[in-house]
Amino acid sequence: MTASSKKIPRHVAIIMDGNGRWAKQRGKARLEGHRAGAESVRAIVRACGELGIEYLTLYAFSSENWNRPRAEVSALMHLLEFYLKQEIPELDKNNVRLAAIGRIHELPGSAQKQLAKSIEALSKNTGLTLVLALSYGGRAELVDATREIARMVKAGQIDIADIDDKLISQHLYTRGIPDPDLLVRTSGELRVSNFLLWQISYAEIYVTDVLWPDFRKPELVKACEAFGKRHRRFGLVNQEDK
Ligand code: FPP
Repeated sequence: MTASSKKIPRHVAIIMDGNGRWAKQRGKARLEGHRAGAESVRAIVRACGELGIEYLTLYAFSSENWNRPRAEVSALMHLLEFYLKQEIPELDKNNVRLAAIGRIHELPGSAQKQLAKSIEALSKNTGLTLVLALSYGGRAELVDATREIARMVKAGQIDIADIDDKLISQHLYTRGIPDPDLLVRTSGELRVSNFLLWQISYAEIYVTDVLWPDFRKPELVKACEAFGKRHRRFGLVNQEDK
């Protein structure tokens, strides 16, 4: 599969699951699984650029992940900060732009600072947009958008009748980013887990048993090939059934 393939998804969103199980299978600490998971992030970002995918959204830390043991949360935050700092040259070389979605203000101050620095450093790039979902929850996103819209109605800036799909989309964290075409979940769980609830309305779903630390370019290519064989109908009927 090459960048010129016709049915390459424009936007791939991934629920990166299975780091813990990967570590357990090897008798290692969970943190080792997350470290190996960060290697997969590196490989998949590069592969997306090579395949001509325009947007990659990664579920890196959910609103629910704050309830994990304190040491694991802290290790994940350190890993994120380390990745954001260390990867700038490689991301820059590969023309990657960076964005973040979620309640970013809930992250530790140092992680927020590094994130802002990395986003700024890569802001002029024009290739793949890497979107990190951090302290992200789909319901919280809808709550935040609803609050913003309600404020606008209250201030008399818009009418209730002005609220439509487009207006809601414009008030999500993902404003300006097209909806995902393909949602990938690793490690076999058949759940959406509060990820991009509004945006995945018409996404094709691909679930693999492969654990995230083992998900590298060949697995991404398989997911894209499966996507290429799907007939997307967006709620309409097949052409041949008309
Ligand atoms: C799920 O595995 C994974 C996470 C909760 C965090 C994802 C983090 C990374 C891939 C590493 C760092 C990220 C970046 C962007 C550098 P799990 O712990 O739920 O696995 P389990 O279900 O097998 O226990």
